Amino acid sequence: MSAHYYLTTPIYYVNDKPHIGHAYTTIACDALARFKRLDGYEVKFLTGTDEHGQKVETAAANAGIDPQTFTDGVSQNFRDLAGAMNFSNDDFIRTTEERHKKACQALWKRLLDKGHIYLGAYEGWYSIRDEAFFTETEVKDGKAPTGAPVEWVEEPSYFFDLSKWQEPLLKYYEENPDFIAPSARRNEVMSFVKSGLRDLSVSRTSFKWGIPVPDDDAHIMYVWLDALTNYITATGYPDTDCEDFNNFWPADLHMVGKDILRFHAVYWPAFLMAADLPLPKRIFAHGWWMNEGQKMSKSLGNFIDPYDLINKYGLDQVRYFCLREMSFGSDGEFTHTAIVNRMNSELANDFGNLSQRVLSMIAKNCDGKVPPHGDFTDADKVLMDAAAGLLGTLRQAYDAQAFNKALDQVWQIVGDANRYVDEMAPWGLKKTDPDRMATVLYVLADTIRVLGVLMQPIVPDSASTMLDQLALGDEGRKFASLGTRLVPGTELPKPTPVFPRYVEPETAEA
Ligand code: MSP
Repeated sequence: MSAHYYLTTPIYYVNDKPHIGHAYTTIACDALARFKRLDGYEVKFLTGTDEHGQKVETAAANAGIDPQTFTDGVSQNFRDLAGAMNFSNDDFIRTTEERHKKACQALWKRLLDKGHIYLGAYEGWYSIRDEAFFTETEVKDGKAPTGAPVEWVEEPSYFFDLSKWQEPLLKYYEENPDFIAPSARRNEVMSFVKSGLRDLSVSRTSFKWGIPVPDDDAHIMYVWLDALTNYITATGYPDTDCEDFNNFWPADLHMVGKDILRFHAVYWPAFLMAADLPLPKRIFAHGWWMNEGQKMSKSLGNFIDPYDLINKYGLDQVRYFCLREMSFGSDGEFTHTAIVNRMNSELANDFGNLSQRVLSMIAKNCDGKVPPHGDFTDADKVLMDAAAGLLGTLRQAYDAQAFNKALDQVWQIVGDANRYVDEMAPWGLKKTDPDRMATVLYVLADTIRVLGVLMQPIVPDSASTMLDQLALGDEGRKFASLGTRLVPGTELPKPTPVFPRYVEPETAEA
């Protein structure tokens, strides 16, 4: 039986069309999901849309359509994006689905039965943009700390006894130091919880677009209680005996943006503790993308459209850039120059040229077949051993969501391989020592195999093309086959370049 791995993206609000910030979270999860599958895990990778709440109700009203028709449309945009970005999610959840309503109402009843929900009245500030409550001290000049406008709310409301979970949460964070990452974010969450938790309003009566509270449908559930529950809905909850729940809950990882960490690292574990359900193993909060120095926002109209990026630079180039540019967890800067540099120098020159050079030499000088090899020299072994050691390093990096570190490690070997080509100068060996030339090209081809296999999670299409050129079958692409070697004499197709260079349009026309 294989090990299981369950990871989730946040579910996206359907008040707007997808932008690069949304695509980013899912790209990171997709790379991790692919890595785990190739490493032999049975993976469940979940994404979807968060369709209830005041924000969505208002967006639908502004568009002049009923909320269900509106959410059907925008949710489809997110599904289409998954197709366009080559996301390998195993499920796509919508909070308007019946399975989700059932799960939310069951969780609510469980919390109520266990005495963690009570009826009261809410009086205070609410930010529709954040779908969050704020205290008097947090609100300054009519704005939440996030900069979002707030409105005064007074209405009957059910409350969740969050204040009771302060100590259990702190104890849990202490005992599970990897539960929240990166560690700077963990510290922020801990000091927030230490500063005191107030009971949380978990229902609203002033609008209708949400899941009705069981046995009191004057109330609908607070959109974050509804939204967070999606992670267990998708494992079959409330059926806690089903195969999916047993295999996949608790989740291995919830990936979120730093802006929504509090909901995931405070509210969600408190709800689960109160319901006596296991907690997810890890929550990772990544940073934000800025556009040429500015925060992307609706009012500035500077949201980067993922489709524009794919059309301009290519899909794998965008995926690579997103995970390579900054250390995962920090904020990053989207600039044309930065992406072109990465794509031209690292993908096209370093990696693409390596494979194109080597495979062309093989096509020309070795009859288009994997060359035979003689004894390996120390230099050959150093390169092959370094490549063989990559998997272990990458496993650690992926488990820490350190995608940029993983790519650093891969590029070390790409650099080693390029230096090896230059040092061995196989082109010069053709006349003087053809057997040695064959061995050198064999060592290189086999190193490219390892690099191609390990790059599949980040650049799936390009890596696949590269591996096609080495005539590698499906089994040969799994990590379990990394320890095997290319078989001399295997016919290889004609090589074609894998990573095109970006050429500025004006240069291209000239
Ligand atoms: N619906 C909630 C999540 C509920 S999860 C149970 C939500 N949705 S969102 O559509 O507003 O944001 C989804 C994700 O996109 C968040 O993780 C957020 O951090 C991320 N991003 C939105 N803009 C971003 C950038 N500019 N850069 C990087 N990610 C950002 O919050």
